[in-house]
Amino acid sequence: MNEFPVGVSLGESARGGAGEGCDPVYGEPQRAITGVKDVLLVASGKGGVGKSTVTVNLACALSEQGLKVGIVDADLYGPSIARMLGTGGGLEWNREGQSLPAVAHGIPAVSVANVLPPEAALVWKGPLVAQAVVQMFHQVAWPELDLLLVDLPPGTGDVQLTLLEQIPVTGAILVSTPQRLAMADAERGIALFHDLDIPVFGLIENMHSYICPCCGEEQPLFPRQGVEALARRRHVAYLGGIPLEPGAQRLADEGVPLLKGEPDAVASRAFRTLAGTVRDAVEREARSRLRDADEETRKAHQAFWERLMD
Ligand SMILES: Nc1ncnc2c1ncn2[C@@H]1O[C@H](COP(=O)(O)OP(=O)(O)O)[C@@H](O)[C@H]1O
Ligand SMILES: [Mg+2]
Repeated sequence: MNEFPVGVSLGESARGGAGEGCDPVYGEPQRAITGVKDVLLVASGKGGVGKSTVTVNLACALSEQGLKVGIVDADLYGPSIARMLGTGGGLEWNREGQSLPAVAHGIPAVSVANVLPPEAALVWKGPLVAQAVVQMFHQVAWPELDLLLVDLPPGTGDVQLTLLEQIPVTGAILVSTPQRLAMADAERGIALFHDLDIPVFGLIENMHSYICPCCGEEQPLFPRQGVEALARRRHVAYLGGIPLEPGAQRLADEGVPLLKGEPDAVASRAFRTLAGTVRDAVEREARSRLRDADEETRKAHQAFWERLMD
């Protein structure tokens, strides 16, 4: 394993020269993540659409609802989870040489920003990126978690492919704004997950409206129904809209998730509804995995469909 280029690493076993022993991890089989039941990817086609904001607030809302939730910030080139949670410092290690996640607001999280100074540019090639991503899952002493949310970088690049190849993923949700450019890229993201047989639990429409601070009236920011139409076209669920909440930016810069700083804001309530929907989707997927794992049930299911087709 490789050391991070600036001389810090996510775990003892990551030690070694940055340039030497570049040991690509492509092609390795998927390994379950110790202690973690389900892994949910939070993806987007475009940057700046609110993926990290959704990840952090969804984690807080799920945690409020009793789930044990953690976050991997896999957006290596634009990490924002540590800033949004207020966990800027380094990570500690345990005796086994694994990193301990930073914990804030009850959410354990790991980000490359915990081990790199904010001004350091990340200049890694594919194999290093692949290793760093896999380390965030396997070289970290995660506590028992119901759900590990993964804040992906925008697009469909190296990180996504490494993850989908090596980490057992339960499903993905996509974030888009109602802007045409963002939606076109989100559609590409859905296509990638469909191609690789990763269940897409649905699309979240962020910044779909503006709440007037004077009268509280909700006004659309872009032409309505674009994201819903995209969801219908690609046969995925429309998970709901989150309004633009001016307070969210200030709070994010202070390391406080909106849900904690303004728990009664319309957007915070929308995140709670979203959390319920996401939890149901993850549970449904887990049940269907169980069913598929049981030979008898699988046969009965298959026989049912064959009878129906006849
Ligand atoms: N619903 C929202 N209301 C207000 N500001 C938001 C909202 N969603 C995201 N933002 C702000 O927009 C910017 C980009 O969001 P971010 O979550 O970092 O996007 P991404 O992770 O997709 O690049 C941040 O400054 C964030 O605070
Ligand atoms: Mg982000």
